[in-house]
Amino acid sequence: MGDEAKTQVLVFSFPIQGHINPLLQFSKRLISKNVSVTFLTTSSTHNTILRRAISGGATALPLSFVPIDDGFEEGHPSTDTSPDYFRKLEENVSRSLSQLISSMEPKPNAVVYDSCVPWVLDVCRKHPGVAAASFFTQNSTVNAIYINFLRGEFKEFQDAVVLPAMPPLKGNDLPVFLYDNSLCRPLFELISSQFVNVDDIDFFLVNSFDELEVEVLQWMKNQWPVKNIGPMIPSMYLDKRLAGDKDYGINLFNAQVNECMDWLDSKPPGSVIYVSFGSLAVLKDEQMLEVAAGLKQTGHNFLWVVRETETKKLPSNYIEEIGDKGLIVNWSPQLQVLAHKSIGCFMTHCGWNSTLEALSLGVALIGMPAYSDQPTNAKFIEDVWKVGVRVKADNNGFVTKEEIVRCVGEVMDEMSEKGKEIRTNAERLMKFAREALSEGGNSDKNIDEFVAKISR
Ligand code: UDX
Repeated sequence: MGDEAKTQVLVFSFPIQGHINPLLQFSKRLISKNVSVTFLTTSSTHNTILRRAISGGATALPLSFVPIDDGFEEGHPSTDTSPDYFRKLEENVSRSLSQLISSMEPKPNAVVYDSCVPWVLDVCRKHPGVAAASFFTQNSTVNAIYINFLRGEFKEFQDAVVLPAMPPLKGNDLPVFLYDNSLCRPLFELISSQFVNVDDIDFFLVNSFDELEVEVLQWMKNQWPVKNIGPMIPSMYLDKRLAGDKDYGINLFNAQVNECMDWLDSKPPGSVIYVSFGSLAVLKDEQMLEVAAGLKQTGHNFLWVVRETETKKLPSNYIEEIGDKGLIVNWSPQLQVLAHKSIGCFMTHCGWNSTLEALSLGVALIGMPAYSDQPTNAKFIEDVWKVGVRVKADNNGFVTKEEIVRCVGEVMDEMSEKGKEIRTNAERLMKFAREALSEGGNSDKNIDEFVAKISR
């Protein structure tokens, strides 16, 4: 097959870390199946992403990075949640993406786009032959909850809901926006918009794997051709078939790699609590002090990622007080950390990528959800997958240091019934995660099928 005949795909991610990672990873899988990929960036984030792609290694991939005009100045924060930002983004990206497709000959076979920008479907429809593949960075359970909510099956602020194919959910197991409408309305609308046109999309791709959500996946499949293609984490931690694929390749933060790895090397196996709340979560000042006190009180070693913007909330003298028991960094090489033998458990905000990474590496979890889909992920971690515990917050959402100590005790005690059960389940799911992307695994087959269907 000549180069002109190669299947071509445009990939468009919302320019935030938790979405770039899985979409870039999906791009690599497509490349490994002989597809030519163009990774689209917004013009206001292009230089930053390109710089980060150079330092993170993504520019070494056979992949081009092409900016599309979003109408904002370079450096405009991609975490802007104002209605004005979302409106202009839609207007400008729709126009410039359409222009880009018009200028291409041959036309791309498909656009794989972040489900948070569902209007890309309308752009695709202006160009016959260009398939629209919506890529969901959250799991099917979360998707199904939103879909039920949008169909009016339950109302905001409900204390408990019973939905098909999942256990009964309390209010605080629901995605945050469905429980607390005091939170960012534009973000709630953005997230809800993911489902407006799911009846019309050509491909419904989800970053999850089949064994994780058997019943809910079936419920979804009864209505849409949902395909799991995950877990979208570097191949080195799964099937190892993509040579050299050990990092996502675009880090929007500077990881303190040597510091973390040297410190972990100096600790006994299974002795360290790894703590990270992802790229976006912001803890209240009192909560930060309580987490700091709780971690210290556990008596265990801990490696805690406190992003630069959060460090001012740490207690004064904390670093001196914890000495060599704790290491605080602004950003870690999370996958390398989770794969390190010294790690005993991961205290996480339950962002979907962090959850998938831990599941793929068989790491026991302590869920301390903050936002968005995270409470639902935490509920499933504790009660369905049983690979960890979830901290109990009081009515104001506050988690005490005693509660942190209790949860750490439960998860770190490998000999307790609970500790054993968690480890057994973690091992079992790790096996499924790895199989999913191995040759002939369900997610691998779904990616093959996607490529076959879009290829002309
Ligand atoms: C967001 C949402 O919170 C999440 O729930 C949604 O499903 C996807 O996007 P974020 O909050 O940043 O992302 O969390 P998460 O999904 O866990 O993604 C964070 C990524 O950053 C992970 O891939 C993790 O490996 C990486 N990371 C995090 C690091 O590399 N180093 C760190 O120190 C912390």
